[in-house]
Amino acid sequence: SAVFHLPQHPSIARCDKPLLLIVLDGLGESKYHDQYNAVEQADTPTLDALKATAPRRWRTLKAHGTAVGLPTDADMGNSEVGHNALGAGQIVDQGAKCVDRALASGNVFKLDGWKHIESHAQSGTLHLLGLLSDGGVHSRYDQLILLVEGAIKHGVKRIRLHLLSDGRDVNDNTAVAWVERLQGDVQGLNKQHSVDVRIASGGGRMAVTMDRYESDWGVVQRGYYAAVLGEAPHTFTDPVVAVRELKKDNSVSDQYVEPWVVVGEDGKPVGAVEDGDAVVTFNFRADRVVEISQALEYADFKKFDRKRWPDIRFAGIMQYDGELQLPKHFLVPPPLIERASEQYVVGNGLRVFACSESQKIGHVTFFWNGNRSGYLDPKLEKFQEIPSDQGISFDQAPAMKAHEIAAATKEALLSGQYDFVRCNFPNPDMVGHTGNLEATIKAVTVTDSCVKELLETVEQIGGRFLLTADHGNAEEMVKRDKSGVPVEIDGKPVQLTSHTLNPVPCAIGGPGLPQHVHFRDDLPNAGLANVTATFLNLLGLQAPDFYKPSLIATVEDGK
Ligand code: 3PG
Ligand code: CO
Repeated sequence: SAVFHLPQHPSIARCDKPLLLIVLDGLGESKYHDQYNAVEQADTPTLDALKATAPRRWRTLKAHGTAVGLPTDADMGNSEVGHNALGAGQIVDQGAKCVDRALASGNVFKLDGWKHIESHAQSGTLHLLGLLSDGGVHSRYDQLILLVEGAIKHGVKRIRLHLLSDGRDVNDNTAVAWVERLQGDVQGLNKQHSVDVRIASGGGRMAVTMDRYESDWGVVQRGYYAAVLGEAPHTFTDPVVAVRELKKDNSVSDQYVEPWVVVGEDGKPVGAVEDGDAVVTFNFRADRVVEISQALEYADFKKFDRKRWPDIRFAGIMQYDGELQLPKHFLVPPPLIERASEQYVVGNGLRVFACSESQKIGHVTFFWNGNRSGYLDPKLEKFQEIPSDQGISFDQAPAMKAHEIAAATKEALLSGQYDFVRCNFPNPDMVGHTGNLEATIKAVTVTDSCVKELLETVEQIGGRFLLTADHGNAEEMVKRDKSGVPVEIDGKPVQLTSHTLNPVPCAIGGPGLPQHVHFRDDLPNAGLANVTATFLNLLGLQAPDFYKPSLIATVEDGK
């Protein structure tokens, strides 16, 4: 429609060859240059050559905290907020912040979502399901506690908690401590308010419930069986003992703890979900709770045999998918990301190709388009998913599907069928999350070689490119103290499995890019949201004026 039409850029003509946009997932710039920097340890001739074009065609960008709509600058970046910003060109208050605000104002318990579940929560059991940590990527511990306290205030007497252990957004081997802390807090609330709040089930987030983009429904099935049916391979009477035992002296990562259920003296689960109960998923981030939401909400569901589908009232803390309106009921309205760039791109008739493997495909489609699944214009867009390896920890195969992504992207570039080709390389991030330094170095090396192949293709066809990353991860593989010294426990460095606060690289180039185009030097604090106007310019378009300013200047406009 005319609303989404953008005028031609005054000094950057449209190139008749495609623009390639590469997102390196989880690859930042660290100020520490030691053996724990997997990006510098890796063999990266291509990324190094790009860096050598600084400051005209290489720079860094903010990718964490308030620059991407997170509550504070102590919040590390993540793929959701990063790709939201890259696709939307604006800084929007993200889910974490919306939930904080709604909890502080009490709105959580005033809006339609709570009204939908309230009577069931009061007369039956309220089940809260989500990730147990203070990572701030998918969920936060303080929000969970405020939710429990608020529910008690609103007359809820019986609450059951279904918890995924983390070790990915927070340090590994902290799961026992998190469950202990929660157990203590819950027992305090029970005494204080004469209520019945209990931890009922759990498991590691990569093994149980939190699959994403339909990479492996078996993960969701295990979570549904544990939380809803009360069935798991392991039963315990005490959740702290459960996690401690299943961690097997820390030989099992928090992320991969097998599913467990708490049972009473009678051997029956203390918190299976029954008809008449209410369920709330307390993760604010969408990707890894979309599938369990479908399993809880859809009458017609065929991804696995649910065996029993209780008659419940269900709400997400947020709505996770604006297009699917999933879940139908939610406690806090999600951030509204309007006028994302893809609407303008297809509004101008440009043809889009987006590619990654299963683990990240939604990053360059769903997150990119403001948490809307599906095509905006199926005639103009093609989303290609390369199936990810299933059921392994990605340090076992650190190349992941990078070569396949490169091949599919190369084919799209050469096909002449697309104007805008974007891809995401997951492995610096996914392997970085395992904490395995050697494997992460390999992941970065492979990624560099794939980037090389794609930039050669751009060279060959005379196109343009923009390369950036969504947040840091692989560049910092050890936990450091305040002065930057690696932290050790028992003489061993503590692996950093989570993302970082670091800035990320951004590079532009290609034979199709006019010589006079370069980065301006008056935006030192620019962040990921500034990339959007930049790639619109590289597509030959002027960006909407409410977008964050473009990073590039031309000699003509003298900036
Ligand atoms: C995950 O979901 O894997 C992590 O919590 C965050 O990683 P991502 O933001 O890079 O997807
Ligand atoms: Co990540």
